[in-house]
Amino acid sequence: MSNTILEVQGLCKYFGGVKAVDGINLKIPKNAIQTIIGPNGAGKSTTLNLLSGTYFPTHGKVTYNQADVTDLKLHQRVHLGMARTFQKIRLFKQLSVLENVIAGFHIHHQIPAWQYLIPAGAFRKNRSDCQNEAMALLEFLGLSDKANDRAGSLPYGTQRLLEIARSLATRPKLFMLDEPAAGLNDTEVQFLMGRLKDLQNQGMTIVLVEHNMKLVMNVADEIFVMDHGEYLFDGKPNEVQSNPKVIAAYLGADGVQQ
Ligand SMILES: Nc1ncnc2c1ncn2[C@@H]1O[C@H](COP(=O)(O)OP(=O)(O)OP(=O)(O)O)[C@@H](O)[C@H]1O
Ligand SMILES: [Mg+2]
Repeated sequence: MSNTILEVQGLCKYFGGVKAVDGINLKIPKNAIQTIIGPNGAGKSTTLNLLSGTYFPTHGKVTYNQADVTDLKLHQRVHLGMARTFQKIRLFKQLSVLENVIAGFHIHHQIPAWQYLIPAGAFRKNRSDCQNEAMALLEFLGLSDKANDRAGSLPYGTQRLLEIARSLATRPKLFMLDEPAAGLNDTEVQFLMGRLKDLQNQGMTIVLVEHNMKLVMNVADEIFVMDHGEYLFDGKPNEVQSNPKVIAAYLGADGVQQ
């Protein structure tokens, strides 16, 4: 049995003349926390968009559990156990925190999202199951006391945690996060760190695009470094921290802040 959950070969994404991603090869081991780092504009989000089916590649192949998923869209990949969060938060701002997570369940229970929000007879039982599961996810992310708050009223960092809860409602095996620590304070980053490790301990594989080096260096099993859309280096946290190419391209003269 292969130990690789996701593999990309020769992955390219061109926007007109911009080579956002240019010839990336990457194998993500099952149950790993794989991080992708690089300077602004390196192509990290575009790579995540290609891994998740948000974009289709100009060239290249994406293989998930040994099946070619290159031509599958985001929602089709969600059914296979892939989920993602976005760099720019996408919540239903007018709905409550709880309703946002419940909406994340519709894919799993194959019921249109709106039927969770407007209780309809046949779905009432399913709906209460979902409520319980949603509350458990909110608990996991430390948000249970905010269940009835309007999502849009939450501070930015809390909205990010809610986005994670909502994505987890699809019960992913492979969870991809684009800068989850952006806008989080130190306590929230510490909390997120623990949650990511918990998810890994539950058997999940995580792909993390992140600028926060403290988070990356603490959770990463593998680090893949990109620059100008291309591969720069990959290795364990200590190898990346001491690599001169990485330091020059990304970390600057000060090196990695622990
Ligand atoms: N939809 C798009 N249309 C045109 N150019 C794009 C598009 N998306 C990304 N790009 C360009 O591709 C390059 C890589 O962008 P990307 O967002 O993947 O970088 P990133 O590593 O995620 O950066 P950041 O750290 O700032 O989030 C940039 O030059 C960007 O301007
Ligand atoms: Mg980005």
